[in-house]
Amino acid sequence: MKTVLITGAAGFIGSNLTHALLTGGYRVIGVDNFDDTYDPHLKEIHIAPFINNPNFILHRIDVCNLPDLTNVFKVEKPSYVIHLAAKADTRAAVKNPRIYTAVNIEGTLNILELCREYPVENLVIASSSSVYGNTPRIPLVETEAADRPLSPYGATKRAMELLAYTYNHNFDMNITCLRYFNAYGKNNRPDMVPYIWTDRLLHNEEVKISGDGSRKRDYTNVSDIVRATILAMHTPLGFEIINIGNNTPVSLRELLSIFEKVIGVTAKVKSRPSHPASVEVTYANISKAKKLLDWEPQVVLQDGITQLVAWFRANRFEERK
Ligand SMILES: NC(=O)c1ccc[n+]([C@@H]2O[C@H](COP(=O)([O-])OP(=O)(O)OC[C@H]3O[C@@H](n4cnc5c(N)ncnc54)[C@H](O)[C@@H]3O)[C@@H](O)[C@H]2O)c1
Repeated sequence: MKTVLITGAAGFIGSNLTHALLTGGYRVIGVDNFDDTYDPHLKEIHIAPFINNPNFILHRIDVCNLPDLTNVFKVEKPSYVIHLAAKADTRAAVKNPRIYTAVNIEGTLNILELCREYPVENLVIASSSSVYGNTPRIPLVETEAADRPLSPYGATKRAMELLAYTYNHNFDMNITCLRYFNAYGKNNRPDMVPYIWTDRLLHNEEVKISGDGSRKRDYTNVSDIVRATILAMHTPLGFEIINIGNNTPVSLRELLSIFEKVIGVTAKVKSRPSHPASVEVTYANISKAKKLLDWEPQVVLQDGITQLVAWFRANRFEERK
């Protein structure tokens, strides 16, 4: 039984990934500090189904705490590491960038150092479509310089990729950075549009839409993201950066129509100003993922939103504070 260490295991993507790996017969070591970017109680709920699983161990530690993290690597000696732990709020990063550089860059540096010291077969790191900023070349392709991110969050994710490359170059480590595009689905982060809209529409409340609603996002189901991540874990490639997106962007207006159809309501909509750190379009070119990982998204957006709404009704409807 191989051991996979997942940082950020209690988060949205991390908990879905933990579930898939435990189901797939792996031993999973979760690392998470239950930070307060959003209600940590939700992370407790994400992780609860695994706590009594004998193949799962949770370490409640901060990736910035090198001595604690070193102990985990020393004891567990993972075959694979999937590094998801991060501060991940684009807008909050503009206001409070220092914590973003601390966690996303220095925390990643700790992971890189420990994967060098305790060699792993492959390290997969979560990057983001945010590295691209606004570029006229759409769909977004990995060969873009990605040197004009709009948020410090995107800048830290790009910095992390660059650091990772140096570890491949100097120490011959296998590292794949996956640029995820707009994940949504079960255990969705509560600060993201698909969750907020589900919550508000089911409670018959007004939804806010940024600008004129024409901004496009390449919403990607978390199950597709998890499958891509596991494929990447099994496919050591030296160093690669790979887009993982749905390749079918929709405008916010189009997304709202899908929600209205799925829930059977007509939304009360209020416009709010667009945030300057919010990009115009995310749209992934996924040729590289197809070629290197044999990965393609499988979940059509409307089906994924139907599942999200059903999950929310069953698990979060009463959770609202
Ligand atoms: N959700 C998306 O649409 C999306 C898109 C692009 C990239 N990503 C990236 O994917 C990864 C996972 O994102 P998510 O949406 O699941 O977010 P999330 O916030 O739900 O998960 C991140 C987890 O990391 C943990 N964490 C934060 N700081 C930590 C620290 N210092 N030490 C240990 N744990 C820490 C948090 O407690 C949380 O459980 C992140 O790296 C994020 O940047 C997400």
